Amino acid sequence: MTNFNLEYSGVDGDSLVTYAGELGSYREHLERVVSEGDLVAKEASLCLPTDTVIQTLVNDLVSRYKTEQLRHIIVIGIGGSNLGTQAIYNALGGDDQYPIDGQGAVIHFLDTFDQKALDRLLRHIDDEVHEANEFVVNIISKSGSTTETIANFELLYKELSQIFGDIRKRIVVTTDKGSVLWKRAEDAGFVKLPIPKRVGGRYSVFSAVGIFPLSLAGVPVNELLEGARSMRDTCVSDVQDNPAIGTAAALHFAYTNGYSAHNNFFFEPRLETVGKWYRQLMGESLGKEYDVENNEVHAGMIPLVSIGSTDLHSVGQLYFSGPRTIFTTLVSNKEHKSGPSVEAPEAQMFGGIVEDLSGRTLSELQHAVTEGVKRTYIQKDLPHIAVEFDTVDAFALGEFLQYQMITIMYLAELMRVNAFDQPGVDTYKEETRKILKNMRD
Ligand code: PA5
Repeated sequence: MTNFNLEYSGVDGDSLVTYAGELGSYREHLERVVSEGDLVAKEASLCLPTDTVIQTLVNDLVSRYKTEQLRHIIVIGIGGSNLGTQAIYNALGGDDQYPIDGQGAVIHFLDTFDQKALDRLLRHIDDEVHEANEFVVNIISKSGSTTETIANFELLYKELSQIFGDIRKRIVVTTDKGSVLWKRAEDAGFVKLPIPKRVGGRYSVFSAVGIFPLSLAGVPVNELLEGARSMRDTCVSDVQDNPAIGTAAALHFAYTNGYSAHNNFFFEPRLETVGKWYRQLMGESLGKEYDVENNEVHAGMIPLVSIGSTDLHSVGQLYFSGPRTIFTTLVSNKEHKSGPSVEAPEAQMFGGIVEDLSGRTLSELQHAVTEGVKRTYIQKDLPHIAVEFDTVDAFALGEFLQYQMITIMYLAELMRVNAFDQPGVDTYKEETRKILKNMRD
């Protein structure tokens, strides 16, 4: 379960009422998209937690590939095609956790061009993998034409084919049905999984993009989707006690009062990748040159990711005392599981340097820091929201990611920008292709 405290978000009661009114008809629209399972709407991703068609396709494939031999899943994708999967996998413990008790598999991620990472992966495969049925390569691309993804796949496919021979049956291609990649995968005889047309990369984690590799690894995807479903229903069904509307209102209020950044401050290190996933979600959804009426606006908030305690000792001073331009979400875990809760010994080597350390567990120490930061934010009157996980499990992650996606939809509505396109990213992709073409000519 995820708990929200919006008491210190900085929005006054009257403004909240105004925001609720402004978002009323959009909330009704979202509610309709969900109840009708509207896959044609821009917000089609809201249907994913209950999309049994996709879930059945994925489950069928999972039962085919999830054998006793399977140990490695290689996800090749970038941005929206891998960040959500990585966020959930790492938050649940990542390579320290998987495979669980010898069941399931480790996920390896290939995104940017990184010769060393590729070499490391190939060495690892050379040392650990004896037969092709010990791995699955899942290439994921919504557009089906992203340079980094296609290039990484080509390099890996060539190497793996040299070691294991015909590996076509070990490849799963996740892409849009209309993409060139879909067609080429069909010609090559690869297994394919579709991404619904209207679901863009950064909203796709609950589609085959995320749930296929996560299921293979052993993540309880049913719980993840159940968390997403329950949060979705809360965030589209009413204006009152709606964390997504409350947060969107707070962020918009801050934005229009000079706050240009949104910092997700995680007091749980394994949530860092969740912050990187959110960085794309907020960055690409709100960072726009033009609004929906085609006015030049250069809108957007800068998404930041910080880790407590680490970043308290680097940028904490700036956050507490610097320019009043950063709205913060403080995210903590009631039950700290990231490290052993070892009691500091009574007879300490450096006893007395830090008063009252004796007998405290790491969890208690982390709790003291987190609460200390919360108190400081309140004392300094810094606008923030506090989110607390009862425990970081698949259900709570489903809730949290879905809450953030719906918050961004509401916020984009308030900012009058299109939350679902990314023309700037498309431009760089096109320019890269032109440069590559010139290199050949
Ligand atoms: O949100 C987006 O559309 C992009 O950032 C993509 O996620 C990223 O560029 C990867 O694109 P694709 O999934 O088409 O390979």
